Amino acid sequence: MNQDQLKQAVAQAAVDYILPHLERNSVIGVGTGSTANYFIDALARHTFDFDGAVASSEATAQRLKDHGIAVYDLNSVGELEFYVDGADEANDRLELIKGGGAALTREKIVAAVAKTFVCIADASKRVPVLGGFPLPVEVIPMARSHVARQLVRLGGDPVYRQGVVTDNGNVILDVHNLHITDAAKLEADINAIVGVVTNGLFAARPADVLLLGTATGVQILKR
Ligand code: 5RP
Repeated sequence: MNQDQLKQAVAQAAVDYILPHLERNSVIGVGTGSTANYFIDALARHTFDFDGAVASSEATAQRLKDHGIAVYDLNSVGELEFYVDGADEANDRLELIKGGGAALTREKIVAAVAKTFVCIADASKRVPVLGGFPLPVEVIPMARSHVARQLVRLGGDPVYRQGVVTDNGNVILDVHNLHITDAAKLEADINAIVGVVTNGLFAARPADVLLLGTATGVQILKR
C-alpha cells in the first residue's frame, strides 16, 4: 500500500472506531489535512448517525459542507465526544507535532474541548523523538522577528513560511533542528514567548488514541 492508501485505511478505521459511540445529536471535531480529508469523505456515508461537526479550518469547513455535513461554531456546541485529526509526527506517548497545514491553533482549540482525541496517521509519522519535522509556530505578524530570535535562543532554527497566512490572519515560523525530549516543557516555553499564538506541539493535550496505518493493517495505540 502507498502512503495515500494507508491514510485512507486509517480514515476508515477512525469512522469505524467512533461510529458505535455516536448519537443522532452528536457533534464531532474534525481536523485538517489530507488524512482528515479522507476521514471526512468516509464520514459522509453516515450523515444520519450524527448531527454535525466543528471544523479546525476554513478548508475543512468547506469540505464538510460540500458533503452535506452541518458545520457548527465551537461556541455554540456544548461538548465534543471526539476530535479526529492527522499529525506530522507522533511519538510513543502520543505527543504530536501538527501544523504542516498551518491550522495548528484551531486544531489545538478543538482538541482541547474534545473528550477523546483520535489521531489518524500513516506509519511514516511515528518517530522515536519528535523534531525531525520542523515545528510550526503561529505568530502575530508584527512579532515575527522577535519570536524568531527567541526561538534561536531555545536552540531551534526558525524559517518563515513564505506566502502563508493562517485562517486567523497570522504567519508561521517552522522551527528546524529540534530534538524534542521534553515536549510538554518546550510547548510551554515557546507559548510563553510574547507574540506566539501557539505552537504545533500537542503534549499538554496529546492524542488519546493513535490509529496508525501500516503495511500489515491499522494498529491501535492508546495512552
Ligand atoms: C494540519 C495538520 C495535519 O494534520 C498534518 O499536517 C498532517 O497532514 P496530512 O494528513 O496531510 O499528512 O496538522 O495543520
